Amino acid sequence: MPIIEVEDLHKRFGQTQALAGVSLSVEPGTVLGLLGPNGAGKTTTVRVLATLLKPDSGRATVAGYDVVTQADEVRTVIGLTGQYAAVDEKLTGHENLWMVGRLLGMNKAQAHQRADELLERFRLSDAGDRQVRTYSGGMRRRVDLAVSLVGRPSVLFLDEPTTGLDPVSRFEMWDVTRELLADGTTVLLTTQYLEEADELADRIVVIDKGAVIAEGTADELKDRTGGRTLEVTLRHAADVDAALAAIAPSGGADAVRVDRDLHQLSVPVEQDTARAAGIVAQLTDAGIEIDDFSLQRPSLDDVFVALTGHAADGDADIDVDRSTGRRSRGPLPGGTDELLDTEDRPQR
Ligand SMILES: Nc1ncnc2c1ncn2[C@@H]1O[C@H](COP(=O)(O)OP(=O)(O)OP(=O)(O)O)[C@@H](O)[C@H]1O
Ligand SMILES: [Mg+2]
Repeated sequence: MPIIEVEDLHKRFGQTQALAGVSLSVEPGTVLGLLGPNGAGKTTTVRVLATLLKPDSGRATVAGYDVVTQADEVRTVIGLTGQYAAVDEKLTGHENLWMVGRLLGMNKAQAHQRADELLERFRLSDAGDRQVRTYSGGMRRRVDLAVSLVGRPSVLFLDEPTTGLDPVSRFEMWDVTRELLADGTTVLLTTQYLEEADELADRIVVIDKGAVIAEGTADELKDRTGGRTLEVTLRHAADVDAALAAIAPSGGADAVRVDRDLHQLSVPVEQDTARAAGIVAQLTDAGIEIDDFSLQRPSLDDVFVALTGHAADGDADIDVDRSTGRRSRGPLPGGTDELLDTEDRPQR
């Protein structure tokens, strides 16, 4: 039985159709990655599920409770780390956690104990007695996540948990998320980072303009963009033409992309791994020395472009190498302002 079920959610803000029929489900103890560009409707979906926003139509349940008619029950099982940090900067890490414990009905000693446990778990024990405003972005994000775990939620919503973080802090957040999973927590994670969904999510739902445009495992989505590519790097640049001649009999030679500078051949092989192995054998049989070969799957970036016709985070961030047609990502956005969006917090 899915622990989160969403059926045909619609939500309009004035002229903006934020959700235009989102349906999804999440099995207990798994991570669902809700992937989409800016404005796709990720936060709106999370806010509906976290009982912060009523949908115009459609239905959603969390742990069997209806998010509209049984909102109080839903709140007892969920935790939410909103897109923007929502801890009190003037309080210490420990005080933030302690306060939430008290709001959840713990006695003073229990709240102190829970705060200490969480600080230790998030490697914040040394900083626990410092005001949060002295924390780095990654530390704030961790304390923010810790706050949403005080009540031991079985379902956790993480709305873009790593946006604006440096790579080290991003990896730390990934580790923490994996630990939560190991504890049996179900996680619904929104992200604009394809590699993040690839890394953490058991299943991925891709939304764009308020509608689901694809779903599946990362591998299934990659397979949908067509097949794999055999990349062969030859030892000698002079062998490129001989290599092309050697593989010509196996067909599809026009589809081979050649990079003479890198002495590299890229051969589309769809799902046919035997064909890929055959091509490598043909080259070695022809006496051509190979430095390296690999079977490449399309990246989730490729998938996103194939599905939507545009890149996940705006075209500006994707550089297309005209000679190879290959896309590479630009720098990840940094220094996101930590806005306080009180609407993003569940009532504890
Ligand atoms: N309270 C609101 N009032 C008016 N429009 C809103 C409101 N909340 C969201 N929207 C609009 O609804 C659409 C979906 O917004 P949402 O915040 O769900 O996107 P998102 O996928 O979370 O994007 P991002 O990656 O930028 O966080 C956007 O066009 C947004 O401008
Ligand atoms: Mg959002």
